Amino acid sequence: MQKIIFVGGARPNFMKLAPILREIRRGFAQTIHPILVHTGQHYDQAMSGNFFKDLELPEPDYNLGVGSGSHATQTAAIMRGFEPVCLAEKPDMVAVVGDVNSTAACALTAAKLQVAVAHVEAGLRSGDRRMPEEINRIVTDALADVCFVTEESGIDNLLREGKRPEHLHLVGNLMIDSLVHQLRLLPSDTARHEGPYAVVTLHRPSNVDHAERLEAIVNALVALARTLPVIFPVHPRTSARLAEFGLRDALASSKVRCLPPMGYAEFLALWKDASLVLTDSGGIQEETTFLGVPCLTLRENTERPITLSMGTNRLVPGGTRSILEAAQQSLSQRGDVVRRPPLWDGRAAERIVRHLCASGTIADSVPARS
Ligand code: UD1
Repeated sequence: MQKIIFVGGARPNFMKLAPILREIRRGFAQTIHPILVHTGQHYDQAMSGNFFKDLELPEPDYNLGVGSGSHATQTAAIMRGFEPVCLAEKPDMVAVVGDVNSTAACALTAAKLQVAVAHVEAGLRSGDRRMPEEINRIVTDALADVCFVTEESGIDNLLREGKRPEHLHLVGNLMIDSLVHQLRLLPSDTARHEGPYAVVTLHRPSNVDHAERLEAIVNALVALARTLPVIFPVHPRTSARLAEFGLRDALASSKVRCLPPMGYAEFLALWKDASLVLTDSGGIQEETTFLGVPCLTLRENTERPITLSMGTNRLVPGGTRSILEAAQQSLSQRGDVVRRPPLWDGRAAERIVRHLCASGTIADSVPARS
C-alpha cells in the first residue's frame, strides 16, 4: 500500500484532483491510500467550497487554512502548515497539481523531507518569468521525481531543462477528465442561455493589477456588449481592482452582466454554449479547445501552445481595438471542425494512477538522495 498525499489549494487545482481521487476509489483503493490536503489558499465558498461540492471531492483530511497574503507570506505559511502533516503521515509520495503557490510550496517542503514528489501538469512554460505561476512551474518541476505531462511541448521543455526521460509521462489532461465527467452529470433541465453571448473571466495580475490595462479591457467589454450579451463572473482579485481603479461604474452602466464567481457546474453550463470566451485563465484555454468554443486569451503568451496550434484559442496581447477585432474574427469561427489534442480523452487519471501503482514506480523513480 502506497500512502500518497494529494495537495490542492486554489480553484484550478480542484478539478485536477477530483478525477484522480475518483479513479483511486474506483479500482485502486487496495494499492493507494490517498490523503487530501487543502492548503486553504482559496477559502471563499465561491472559490473553494462550491468546487468540492460540484466535483464530489471528499472532505480534505487536512485544511491548513493559510488564506491570502503576499507571495512570500502565503508560500511560507503553506510550508509551515504542510511540514508537520508530512512528518506525521510519513507519505511515500506527495502529489502536487498545476502551478499555484500551494504547488511549489508543498513540492519544496516534501523534497526537503526527502519525500518523492509527483507533479501533475508538469513541463508547461510560458517563457515569461513575470508570471508568478511560471516561477512555480520551474521550481516544482526542478524538484519533481515524477512528471505527468498534458501536451508534447511539456516533454520538450522538461528534457531541455535536464529531466531524465524515464521520469516523464505524457498522460493527457485531467481538466478534460473533469469536463467529460461533469458534462455527463449536467442535469438535462439545466437552463440554456438563449441566443449568442460571450463569457469573460479575468484574474491575472498582468491584466487586473494595472489601471490602464484593466481599463482597456473594460472598454472592450463595454463596446462588445452593445452588440453581443457579455456575461462576466468576477474573480475576487478583479473585483477589488475594479473598485480600486474606479472602473465599477463603467461596467454597471453598460450591458456587461457582472456576477459573483460561479461553481464548476454552473460555469460549465454557461461557457459551453457561448459564442465566444474571453479569458486569461490557463485551464479555460484547454477546456474551450476540447469543446471547440472560440477563445480569446488576453495575454502575450501561453504555456499551453497546443491550444493555439490545434485548438480554438488565440492570443490577444493588444488593447481595446485589438480585442474587438479579434472578437469579430473569432465569432465567425464557431462551428469549425473541433480538433482535440492527443490523449485529451477523459482518461488521464486512469493513466496517472496506473503509473503510480506500477510495481516499483514510486521507489524506482526517486533518485537516491545524499
Ligand atoms: C491564484 C493562482 C493562479 C490561479 C488563480 C485562480 C498563484 C500564484 N496564483 O491566483 O495561478 O489561476 O488562483 O483563481 O497561486 N481571494 C478571496 N477569496 C478566495 C481567494 C482569494 O477573496 O477564496 C482574494 C484575496 O483578497 C486575494 C486575491 O483574491 O488577495 C487573490 O487571491 P490569490 O490566491 O492570492 O491569487 P489569485 O489571483 O486567485
